[in-house]
Amino acid sequence: MRCRLCGCEDLPSVIGFGKMPLANAFLSSPNEPEELFDLEVVFCPVCSLLQLAHTVPPEKLFSNYNYFSSVSQSMIHHVEDLADELIQDRHLNNHSLVTELASNDGYALKYFLEQGIEVLGIDPAKNVAQVARDKGVPTLVAFFDEAMSHQLPKSDVVMALNVLGHVPNPLDFALGIKNILKPDGVCVIEVPSARDMIDSVSPDQIYFEHIFYWSLSSLSYLFMKAGLTISRAEKIDIHGGGYRLYVTQMNPFAYDRPTNTLRQIENNMGVDQYPYYQCFATRVRDSLEKLLDLLKEIKSQGKQIVAYGAAAKGTQLLNYLGVGMETINYVVDATPTKINKYVPGCRIPVVSPDKFGRVDYCLLTARNWSGEIKSKHPDYGGRWIVPLPYPTIE
Ligand code: TMP
Repeated sequence: MRCRLCGCEDLPSVIGFGKMPLANAFLSSPNEPEELFDLEVVFCPVCSLLQLAHTVPPEKLFSNYNYFSSVSQSMIHHVEDLADELIQDRHLNNHSLVTELASNDGYALKYFLEQGIEVLGIDPAKNVAQVARDKGVPTLVAFFDEAMSHQLPKSDVVMALNVLGHVPNPLDFALGIKNILKPDGVCVIEVPSARDMIDSVSPDQIYFEHIFYWSLSSLSYLFMKAGLTISRAEKIDIHGGGYRLYVTQMNPFAYDRPTNTLRQIENNMGVDQYPYYQCFATRVRDSLEKLLDLLKEIKSQGKQIVAYGAAAKGTQLLNYLGVGMETINYVVDATPTKINKYVPGCRIPVVSPDKFGRVDYCLLTARNWSGEIKSKHPDYGGRWIVPLPYPTIE
């Protein structure tokens, strides 16, 4: 076991969950066999990168994917705001090229396209890429890496949202970005942060697609190694909290005070040191025990519980708790490829939002979208359970 970024061989363990299913491998029947893998998080004391101990081959995870970004309206608003900012700040026009890595169903590039800007999407999931193409978004089906970057045109803007945690070789990925970025181009990267995951006790962020949990120190190490500069960094709230980075070709003069301040805050908290991670496992155990006790208490009163959001986070949470249909009747989700399937591991059925009837309690497994979900069900008469960091009833 070696650090995937710096090669360090001594990686102390942060938390282990034993054998777990693949969070997005929804089952067609409750009896379908499935593969389980060891889920463990380790910390690299040299480059401070938090990462999984074991990698599942990417083809198993991404070739046929069940995640469609457009299902969450809040995600669309988020990228449209970003696109407006980039179009204005970078003076993008019909001579510009925006390339998106892990472009999913074209939810972001479609917006640039509508403004007359040339776009190129790259995504490894054939089924998801086809949805993008159907919208008119040109999309290559491929895992982006340094080797393929030589075949691609240079871009004014490269976007890589929620993908840097997923690629098994982030240095190779960053070198690819360097190759496709024009000298004055910018790459916008969004990643969930290790700091948010640890501080807000979010074990549901840990699943096999998420190989890495980045901090500003590990991000700085990565981009320095790739010959790129983080010229701006800001905190964002989407997906449970993370960073948006504006990365440019190496520029020693791109001194950015806010980025340094953010990094200083992290370092003062100790995010770049192992002790910061050491009590995470105990806090997670405590939090999950409280949630399980609450669910058992509700069931002992003869009440019904369902869950909302067959998100990867939901799969993780339900499997950590070890609950099945005896506790959660069904999981609601609007994604067509998840409906009428079964959540991996716990094998709870997934139903469409129009089946979300009056129940006593609903566990918000897609808790990051709670506002949007609640607004879609103004007539729901039951109580909501927010599972983490510690369970609360609303
Ligand atoms: P995510 O947290 O990884 O984005 O996953 C959210 C899941 O929740 C995804 O499967 C889509 C689903 N979802 C709904 O079914 N309805 C909604 O209103 C929202 C916002 C998400």
